[in-house]
Amino acid sequence: MEHKIDHQDEPSGSNAALMGGTVEAEQPVASSSNKMKALFATLDEVPEALRIQDQLQQTKILVDGELREWKGDFHKVYSPILIANQESGATEKLQIGSYPIATTKESQEALDAAVNAYDGGRGAWPAMHINERIQNLNSFVAKMKTQRQQIVKLIVWEIGKTVADAEKEFDRTIDYINETVRSAKQLSNHTNAFQVTQGFIGQTKRVPHGIVLCMGPFNYPLNETFTTLIPALIMGNTILFKPPKHGTLLFEPLLEAFASCFPKGVVNTVYGRGRDIVPMLMESGKIDVLALIGSSRVADALKKMHPKSNRLKSVLGLDAKNAAIILPDADLKHTVKEVIAGALSFNGQRCTALKVFFVDKQVVDRFNQLLVEEMKHIEIGLPWQKGVTITPLAEPEKPAYLRGCIDDAVAKGADILNEADGGGAIYESFVHPTVLYPVNSDMKIYHEEQFGPVIPIVPFTTLSEPVEYIMNSPYGQQVSIFSQDTDAVSLLIDTLANQIGRINLNSQCQRSPDTFPFNGRKDSADGTLSVDEALIAFSVDSVVVTKQTPENEKLIQSILETGGSRRLTNQVSF
Ligand code: G3H
Repeated sequence: MEHKIDHQDEPSGSNAALMGGTVEAEQPVASSSNKMKALFATLDEVPEALRIQDQLQQTKILVDGELREWKGDFHKVYSPILIANQESGATEKLQIGSYPIATTKESQEALDAAVNAYDGGRGAWPAMHINERIQNLNSFVAKMKTQRQQIVKLIVWEIGKTVADAEKEFDRTIDYINETVRSAKQLSNHTNAFQVTQGFIGQTKRVPHGIVLCMGPFNYPLNETFTTLIPALIMGNTILFKPPKHGTLLFEPLLEAFASCFPKGVVNTVYGRGRDIVPMLMESGKIDVLALIGSSRVADALKKMHPKSNRLKSVLGLDAKNAAIILPDADLKHTVKEVIAGALSFNGQRCTALKVFFVDKQVVDRFNQLLVEEMKHIEIGLPWQKGVTITPLAEPEKPAYLRGCIDDAVAKGADILNEADGGGAIYESFVHPTVLYPVNSDMKIYHEEQFGPVIPIVPFTTLSEPVEYIMNSPYGQQVSIFSQDTDAVSLLIDTLANQIGRINLNSQCQRSPDTFPFNGRKDSADGTLSVDEALIAFSVDSVVVTKQTPENEKLIQSILETGGSRRLTNQVSF
């Protein structure tokens, strides 16, 4: 049975309070917490297709082409989606599976396998023509597609993403892989050409860096992991792949495909506690590229562990505190819709989420009123319920952190504007979207990346206030400007273009479409990811050049005709 939050159908005293109604004799926050508690379903109420029939005990790790049975300790995986116990009325944690807590020994074996498979660039995978690598990848995609339902289900249970968003994540990842294949062929064909200049003739192709350590984030565990892993693979690197702490089981259905579609040692998994197993990999000096979507603190620490700092390349997607700047002439109705999507999609757990809102004082009251009104339509519930936006948060410690941010802001003078509708309420993994106003620089929420459904609104009088905020921020990913004022928008674009990666006009911040460069300045990123640029990030120029003499031209011609070299070739990709 589906839980629905529908004002008309709800008996008084249930979700009505949460969504804007009132319950007599109860404090709004306490009442809303109870309503959120009531949103958790019993096991029988979970739609059949999504029910956890058996826990997923992942007992294998992929090392050197082998799915090895793990005999050591296991990490128990509990879902952020609690289960209501009909008899006791309590909500309980649900274990959905477990995965190996492997040790440095297995990480070392995985590293050795990746190093051997690369073999200084002579291994089967890096030496292969890109056409053959694409064939392997196509076989992988075909197998991956057969696992869609299971992977979607695991995304839902492991991180609480709505079914619709989990499906979108899966499909977007398949599209990304297909686009990457298209782009790789184009790149390969483009680099077939020879350059003749100043008496030299040469060909420049992209070749792999070597061993890539890929670590993705919990919020897009499949998609963002694959936006580094796939381009790294297709360019001929060998991979050590550590799944995110929350969002690990969903890779289990792909292990067999990884094992069977690629030569041994090309893709290896690294399971275990990051702090125990990753330092050893970095300290080995054998990692050529660190591909991490996560926190700048972790990236910073890992990079420092590498003994050869000039050799290590980094592809990093890190912290962000994207600002919305709302000018007095903005179309407020439209702006409010974008703000809500920007702040609350997947509970605000997106690196690209809007996380601080500067609103011109002339319109801030009207903006707040429209925002609070519109937020009454935000549905809170379980991932399989239609139209739901707010679902249980994936990180167990996050609700307490957000409670701290909200309390700190309130203690320093902010109001919870939507308190009557449930703002500020928290029950276990559910955090009600909360609008804080007025927010100022004394408050934690002004500075810190909340990565959750809290909307801090900062009133401003002059444009220099949001501009200074961005200039002084350690982050520089994106900004959203809401206005139709040509002069003001032009000024903001020119002022901010050298501070941040992407400027969104009258729309929320986001990564997509994946063909646009996705990057950041300062502590927000290192390198650019987009379908095309990721291929460049995971490869390096290799030039073969000679003086343009008849003998040398003849030699090149002969190599091309005989197909004697895998590198010096003009073989076309279709
Ligand atoms: O967490 C960051 C994601 O890359 C955001 O992607 O903006 O398309 O949701 P998105």
